[in-house]
Amino acid sequence: MPSKENFNDRMLSLGLARVSEAAAIASAKLIGRGDEKAADQAAVDAMRTQLNMLDIAGVVVIGEGERDEAPMLFIGEEVGTGTGPGVDIALDPLEGTTLTAKDMPNALAVIALGPRGSMLHAPDVYMDKLAIGPNYPTDLVTLEMTPTQRVNALAQAKGCATSDITVCVLERPRHQEMIAELRLTGAAIRLITDGDVAGVMHCAEAEVTGIDMYMGTGGAPEGVLAAAALKCMGGQIYGRLTFRNADERKRADSAGITDLDRIYTRDDMVTNDVIFAATGVTGGTLLPGIKREVGWVTTETLLMRSKTGSMRRMTYRSAIT
Ligand code: FBP
Repeated sequence: MPSKENFNDRMLSLGLARVSEAAAIASAKLIGRGDEKAADQAAVDAMRTQLNMLDIAGVVVIGEGERDEAPMLFIGEEVGTGTGPGVDIALDPLEGTTLTAKDMPNALAVIALGPRGSMLHAPDVYMDKLAIGPNYPTDLVTLEMTPTQRVNALAQAKGCATSDITVCVLERPRHQEMIAELRLTGAAIRLITDGDVAGVMHCAEAEVTGIDMYMGTGGAPEGVLAAAALKCMGGQIYGRLTFRNADERKRADSAGITDLDRIYTRDDMVTNDVIFAATGVTGGTLLPGIKREVGWVTTETLLMRSKTGSMRRMTYRSAIT
């Protein structure tokens, strides 16, 4: 029986980089081709093939959807050779399918891996999210606060004016009211059309990305992936599942979630050490996108371990086959 003790994150991390690289490279030929499904499928196929080469007894806990909806990398699918440690896997082979199809910034191939039982089995529903970067006191900002209170608290802790704060928000009609309130605080808003894993990760490197805080509702699975990233990079994220109907509540029930109003902290969503890999598909502030030249493709991958806080940026050049 694979055990937590067998989880050698140091050795596994390099293999994990190969997994996200493969997914990104597979979707490269579909950047800007207007076909979201094809781009996603290419990334899924490649990620699964690479994942199955790793010596792990892996279970997908955050994946492409429920078993009846997703033929591959569905929640509960067993991956890896089956001979190594028991691990939980959260993945999104192409985070930002529309961004890829339209050749817009910040599409990523992402994957996180931790010991069995280390990640929240988030159902495929929405999650209200709030994130800030490292070095702030716990609970400086909370989901219970209004957007105005969050901006004021962060500005005070940062020692700046509210107008020096930039908040990243998904551009959706559901966020109109929140955006209107944020405008009144004087804070700047970086609106993104998709890709809130990257949106949250941007908070961890505010001096590079210019983003101090992320807030708003997006996918719950993406929330767990973002929590895994911040566990490595530092920073806080809070998430509360939101449900639009009985079917969504049923999904939570099937995932074993009983307290539907619970607010999850980063460490509630990811309870043990994780490794996280993200490869840029389209260029963004955190990672450059895939470069293509005749016969070659070059990727950059951010590979991180929460145990040590180590971060590697790995460039990989490969012949196009
Ligand atoms: P896909 O890559 O599956 O298209 O998801 C992108 C995304 O923007 C996520 O980053 C985000 O959490 C979610 O979709 C938001 O959902 P919606 O588009 O329904 O508002």
